Parts: sequence; C-alpha cells; structure tokens
Amino acid sequence: MPTQPEERIVRPARNVHGSLRLPGDKSISHRYGMLAAFAEGVSRFTNFSTGADCASTLSCMESLGAKINRINNEAVEITGVAGCVTPSNHSLDCGNSGSTMRMVSGLLAPQQGDFTLVGDASLSRRPMERIRKPLEAMGARFTLTDGHAPLMIHGSPLHPIDYTTPVPSAQVKTCVLLAGLQTTGTTTVREAVRTRDHSELALRAFGATLTRTIDSVSISGPQSLHAIDAAVPGDISSAAFFLCAAALFPGSALLLDSLGLNPTRATLLDVLTALGAHIAVLNLEEKNAELVGTVQISSPPEGLGSTAVSGALAAQLIDELPVLAAIAPYTSGGIRIRDAKELRVKESDRIDLIVKNLRAMGAEVAEFEDGVDVPGGQTLHGAAIDSGGDHRIAMAFSVAALRANGETVIKGSESAAISFPEFFNLLDLVAER
Ligand code: S3P
Repeated sequence: MPTQPEERIVRPARNVHGSLRLPGDKSISHRYGMLAAFAEGVSRFTNFSTGADCASTLSCMESLGAKINRINNEAVEITGVAGCVTPSNHSLDCGNSGSTMRMVSGLLAPQQGDFTLVGDASLSRRPMERIRKPLEAMGARFTLTDGHAPLMIHGSPLHPIDYTTPVPSAQVKTCVLLAGLQTTGTTTVREAVRTRDHSELALRAFGATLTRTIDSVSISGPQSLHAIDAAVPGDISSAAFFLCAAALFPGSALLLDSLGLNPTRATLLDVLTALGAHIAVLNLEEKNAELVGTVQISSPPEGLGSTAVSGALAAQLIDELPVLAAIAPYTSGGIRIRDAKELRVKESDRIDLIVKNLRAMGAEVAEFEDGVDVPGGQTLHGAAIDSGGDHRIAMAFSVAALRANGETVIKGSESAAISFPEFFNLLDLVAER
C-alpha cells in the first residue's frame, strides 16, 4: 500500500555524539528470510531488518506457503516449505525491492507452477534483463514487459550454467545460485568484482555446500536447506549515514555496536579513514560466518581531506555513494566518483538526484554519466530536497543538512522506511543542536 508523501525538516547540528545499535542488515535479512522460508524446519531471527523491503520478501514467501510469525517485535519465526513452494493465484508484490524480485525469481524458476512478480512504479522501471539472460540460459521460461516487471515465470526443471555477470551484481549472482541450488549439476557464477557475499555465507549457514575461488562461486544441486537460529548484524549501509554525519563534525564521537562488518560491505570504513576520520573496530566476532563488531568514529580537528572512488571500489560502495557525495562539499579537497553508472538504475537515478539536490543547497558539482565531481571547501544552505521517493537520497541529504546554514526540508522523507524506519528518530538522538 503506497504511503502519502511526507516532509521532514532537518535543522543544522553542532555535533554528533552518542552510541547506537542499528536494526538488522537489509541484505542479510532478505537472504535469511528467503532461505528460511525455503528450508525445512523452523528458523528464528532476532534483529531482523525493520525495513519495508524485507517485509516485501517475507510477504512474498508467505504467499508461497511459508509461515511467518512475528514475536513481540523481537523475533521473526519462519516455517519453511522444505524446498517446494505453493504457486500463488495472486501476483507476488515485491514493492520497492529489487533484491526481492531478482532473488525470488531465481528461487522460483526451477519450481513447478506459474508465478507473476510485480513491483511499485520505481521497481517497474528497473532493469530485469540481467536476470532473464542467465535464467533463460538455464532453460527457464520467463516473460518480461519491455525488459521490466511485471515478470512471469513458468517454472520448470533447469540445467546448470557457467555464467559471468556482465555488471557486478550480488542480486544477479544470488538469483543464479538459488536456481543452481535446485538444479542437477554444477552451476558457476563468475564476477570481475567480488560483490557482497551474504548469499554464499547464508547458504552455507543453512547447510548447503559451495566452492569459491577468487572470482567465482559454484554450487552443485540439488541440495536441501535446514532451518537456523541467528541474530542479524546491524546494517552497515544504514550506519553509513551516521558514520558520515559524525565525520562532518570535529569533536564528534559515535559508537555503533553489533554492526555487520563483512569485508565485502565495509569499504566505507577505508574511505572515511582515507578522508581523515579516526575509526576503531573493536569486539570483532563471527556469527554464522558474518563478521560483527563495534565501530568507533571521531573526526579530526582539521576536518576531512579528499578522496576518489572508482573501479571495483565504486561497485563495493554502491549503496554508500549518495551519502559520500552529500558530505563531499564539506571536505577540504572534494570527492570524485566514477564507474558508478549503476547508480542511475537504482530506486531512482541517484546521480541525477545527487546533482539536483546538491545544487539546490547551493553547491557546485559536475555531473558525469558514471559519477560526479564534488569540489570541497563549500558552504551549503538549507533547501527543499527532492528525494524522488528514494530512501538513500532522503537519508543522504538529511546528513548534508546537518552542516548547512538554515533548515532543510526533505520531501518524500517517508521513503527512509524502505530500509530504515528508525532513521529520523536516531538522527535526532545523536545530532546535538
Ligand atoms: C544488494 C545488492 C546491490 C545493492 C542493493 C542490495 C543485495 O544491488 O545496491 O541495495 O542485497 O544483494 P545490485 O546487486 O543490483 O548491485
């Protein structure tokens, strides 16, 4: 059900201070939810993502026969279908979630029955050819509308493939692996850049066997999955907004505990360190093969320096680039972002909205097809921000607003709930005014 557009006023802050524990990682929650719903037995998760995207995954899996039980807002209990879904008479609504649509497609292509997947206006504009190609190469029967959702799958047994992803994408990799899990023979996915590996780690946690090399992952099917109990680590892509906010204020001190620090996701810590932020990682431990720890950040008295993000780094930082671009004017030397064309096909054209909103705040910025150049040493003023209904744009510019002169109005602020419903409350908690 689409919610009404809302507005939020974000006032400048004097400092960022405090300690937070963040809700569960969106990428891991999608995978745990999907795999638990497909596995045999009852899985139980604490700190499951509170975002609307993961709720879309759970409701699709519920329509396919899994039982979802939310226990007092504290845990999610999922009874799986033991490898055999029930085709639904209704369309499966993936909402705003590309992860749900692309990954569930891989799970369903080898199943019996017909399935229709739909999404909201934003998801219905996003490219789905990238999953049609490998799934059709496996023999799947698949219909798209002009390369987009609605998407129809006529499930049938598949054959294994050896597939190289043309664009680095963990969602596409996962889609193929989930089809491979149910397909006799060995399916291999090769990627030029190691994208987030939560699927590989989660599949192993649910009892599957995979083999990995430096640039490939293989799964031999068919294999069955078994229920697990797990605590989902805090979401580092949500933490990114707070880490960047703290990095903006000399004298800031922020502590984030139980945070997911999977090396395929934690590149932002290196970038912030390169910009001059002081970061310490403490209490590192492994939970279901995912690294979890505490991050302490403070900003240097002289402020942030400059950096450039391109090549493999751009792919690994793809969800954090909007907030990095939004804080770039406040650095001394600016931030250059390239090789990030994928930003144009996310929940919105994020390059377009980064440029438009930085300019609305009075910043100078140069736009490129695959990135932006944002000079440093700039003073920004509060403005009306067009989030384009994109959660990461709404949150990124709320962070930029903390150092602007005057108030900023975030239009479409309700979109933060796609990944992080608690965002504005937590921002108020740590932003000193
Ligand atoms: C995700 C992968 C990335 C990322 C998205 C979540 C995932 O998308 O941008 O927010 O959970 O696998 P792509 O696979 O399209 O790069």
